[in-house]
Amino acid sequence: MRIMFVAALGLIAGLSFGSVSASSQQAPDIKTLRGNVPTVDLAAPEVARQNVGGRFERAYRQQPPLIPHQIDRYQIDLRTNQCLSCHDWSTAAKNAAPTLSMTHYLDRDGRQTDTVAGTRWFCNQCHVPQADAKDLVENTFKPSSTVK
Ligand code: HEC
Ligand code: HEC
Repeated sequence: MRIMFVAALGLIAGLSFGSVSASSQQAPDIKTLRGNVPTVDLAAPEVARQNVGGRFERAYRQQPPLIPHQIDRYQIDLRTNQCLSCHDWSTAAKNAAPTLSMTHYLDRDGRQTDTVAGTRWFCNQCHVPQADAKDLVENTFKPSSTVK
């Protein structure tokens, strides 16, 4: 019984050793969805600078203002929203932060609420930290107020 067990172990070891050396000799023939296009490892682009001095102007009246400070330490999830600890109407004054505008306290039926509306919970769906970044694509946008 014991001998058989040892022999079996040897067989497994031999098998896996064999497969390792086989795979190092020839690359496995795996087809990707795009066909056999060689993969190129690109370096991650540099992170665009944040908090460029001062606040950026809004490009049009309805634009969610850009965030003029870092946000990486402020958690937003199902239960927690740390932005509200400074921006909610009940906390803004003592933190010298701008209060959420009243549109953030309208529920989807247009009723006014005392707590931020669910539709405004995930702040970074609309507000992004400002950065001194190049346009990704050419952009000729002009706000209607400047078009004659
Ligand atoms: C510790 C307090 C604090 C927290 C937390 C905080 N902010 Fe702010 N925020 C400020 C202050 C203060 C200003 C005003 C800065 C200035 O005017 O230069 C500001 C400015 C802003 C503005 C610009 C408003 C405008 O009218 O231009 C936006 C948008 C904003 N914050 C969004 C956020 C979001 C989104 C989060 C969470 C990810 C957040 N803030 C978390 C304090 C905070
Ligand atoms: C659905 C998009 C949307 C979401 C989500 C959203 N906002 Fe806004 N926010 C806007 C728009 C648009 C404006 C400017 C027009 C207005 O005041 O309604 C604005 C304005 C602001 C202002 C400036 C208020 C003022 O009177 O100058 C602050 C501060 C702000 N938002 C913070 C936040 C924070 C913090 C959250 C998350 C709790 C949040 N917003 C969620 C769209 C959004």
